[in-house]
Order: sequence, then C-alpha cells, then structure tokens
Amino acid sequence: MMNKKLKVVMTVKLPDGVETRFRELFNTTLWLNKDPMPRDKMIEAAQTAEVLVSSINDRIDADFIDACGEQLKMIANFGVGYDHIDVARAVEKGIIVTNTPGVLTEDTAEMTMGLIIAVARRFVEGAETVQRGEFSAWSPTFMMGRRIYGKRLGIVGMGRIGQALARRARAFGMQVHYHNRKPVSQRISDELEATYWDDLDQMLSRMDVVSINAPGGPNTFHLLDAERLSKLQPHAILVNTARGQIVDEEALAHLLRGNKIAGVGLDVYERLPGINPELFGLPNAVLLPHMASSTIEARTDMGDRVILNIKTLQDGHRPPDRVIPAML
Ligand code: 8YV
Repeated sequence: MMNKKLKVVMTVKLPDGVETRFRELFNTTLWLNKDPMPRDKMIEAAQTAEVLVSSINDRIDADFIDACGEQLKMIANFGVGYDHIDVARAVEKGIIVTNTPGVLTEDTAEMTMGLIIAVARRFVEGAETVQRGEFSAWSPTFMMGRRIYGKRLGIVGMGRIGQALARRARAFGMQVHYHNRKPVSQRISDELEATYWDDLDQMLSRMDVVSINAPGGPNTFHLLDAERLSKLQPHAILVNTARGQIVDEEALAHLLRGNKIAGVGLDVYERLPGINPELFGLPNAVLLPHMASSTIEARTDMGDRVILNIKTLQDGHRPPDRVIPAML
C-alpha cells in the first residue's frame, strides 16, 4: 500500500521541473512568487504543513519554531548552509532538519575560482570599459592585473567546497594553504600539497589570495574582524562565497577604500537588504548577487536532494541529510 502523501509547503520558488516532481510525489503547495515568503505567511504555513521547504531567505529562529504546529515533522532546507535555522531548538521540538550537501560543491568552487581570477585580472573593469565604447587601442600598460600562477592561496574552511577550490587552484599553479578546525586527512593533504595553519592570523599575513569557505553561524561570526583583516598584505585579494557575516563588512570596505588590500570578490554580504554602500563604485571590488551555486544543474540536484529527504520520510525511514546537533 502506498504511504499517504505528506503535506509539503514550499517557501521558495524552485525550477519548474523540480516543482512538478514535488506535485507528483507529495501533497504540495507551491510558492510561485520570486520574493521570499513573508514571515506571517510562513507561520501560517507552519500550522498545517507536515514538511516546510525553506531557503536561506527564511529566518527559522526559536520564536518561529515555537510557533510551528505539532503536525510539522520536518524542515527540508533547499541549500547546504543552515545558519539561518535554529537546529538545536528544532531538534528539541522533535522536528527533523535536512540540508542538501554535496550537490553544489563543484559549482560553488567553480565560481570562487572564477571570482579570484576576475578580481586579479580585472575582468569586470575591463569588460565595462569595452561596453562603454572606451577601448580603441591596445597599450602595454593598460589594465595590468596580477598573475595568480605561483601565488599562495589561503583557504579559510577546508570542507567539501574548500577542497574543491583547492583542486582548481592547483590546476592554475597556485600553492594551497588552509586554516581549519583540524587538518585534513593525510591523503587529501598530500593530494593538494596543502600547508595547514592552526593560527589564522599567521596564515592571513602571508597569503596573496584568501578565500572564505567556512560555514556561517555563531562560531564564525566576524571571524575576520577589523583586527584580523588588518593582517592582510597590501597586494592581497579577499574572496568570500560562503557567508557575509564571517567578515566585518564595514572594516573590509574601510580597508579597501584606504588601499590597504588590492581587491575583493564578494558573492555574499553581511545583511540583505543592506549591502554596505561603501563597497559600491570601487573598481577593485567585484560584487556578485549570491550566485555561486546558481547553475541549472546544481539547482536541479538541490531540488532532487530535498525530494529524496522528504520521500524517505514519507516512506517511513530516516532522511539521509539530517542536520544533527553534533554537526553544529
Ligand atoms: C544557496 C547557499 O543558493 O546552499 C547554500 O547554503 O549558500 C546557496 O548556494 C542558498 O543558500 C539556497 O538556500
């Protein structure tokens, strides 16, 4: 006998193909608006849904979880990061939280590598010059950037995405350094010929490029504060495709405006809406709209991962991508 279809409420618009599959498998209420679901609507949804499909736009804090109805079994997050969810509170209340690990690793690493090159080789500045019709003759001193081949890349957070970035950086001839809670396995360290720094300050002061690839949340909030950022060398480039709250955005803008570092590539910001306007209008700041995992492939795979987690629950088993308090 088929199990009863779970009542699933989406708070986020997903690609059409993914949504169709949701409708086939579950008793799904779609959210067709491109804007995030307002909080009052979410609280309303959490009174009837058995599964809520959430995204980074949703603030699933203790108050929200306390307002959820008893029927809510699971919060299935569309995304790997869960710093916007009070997982401990959810688990306490018996609500399962799942995420989508693994399926956006390569896309995020790809974008991070692209961002490093874009900043170092001034892609955006160059492209805008041509678009404005201002390029009429080649000159040997025009648009000189910095070579990344042979340079040192310091990766802050050597999880799946950090390692995928390191592989790409190796292919571009960079030397890999990293800071992490603990060193990676000997096998991975050998493969990447990576140098481990337990002291983040020491690593920051020696790198040509620094990439943030750590998870968000209270443990990494302002990990790169004004004091730490001041350790960066004047020719250094900082790239962040992880979470904006890891870097003190105001201190970063200050550093950039004072020419204390060479450039930044950001895909994430400390708060949205509300990007620090001091970052705008700087030729050496490449600012992207949180698009590191935005490929049709990743977004489809992420949707499939959410579906797998819900279907497993519907079939009476434990979903594979449960976020458990030990992971926090
Ligand atoms: C997602 C991300 O696009 O998965 C994550 O944690 O940061 C992004 O790449 C977004 O979070 C979806 O909720």
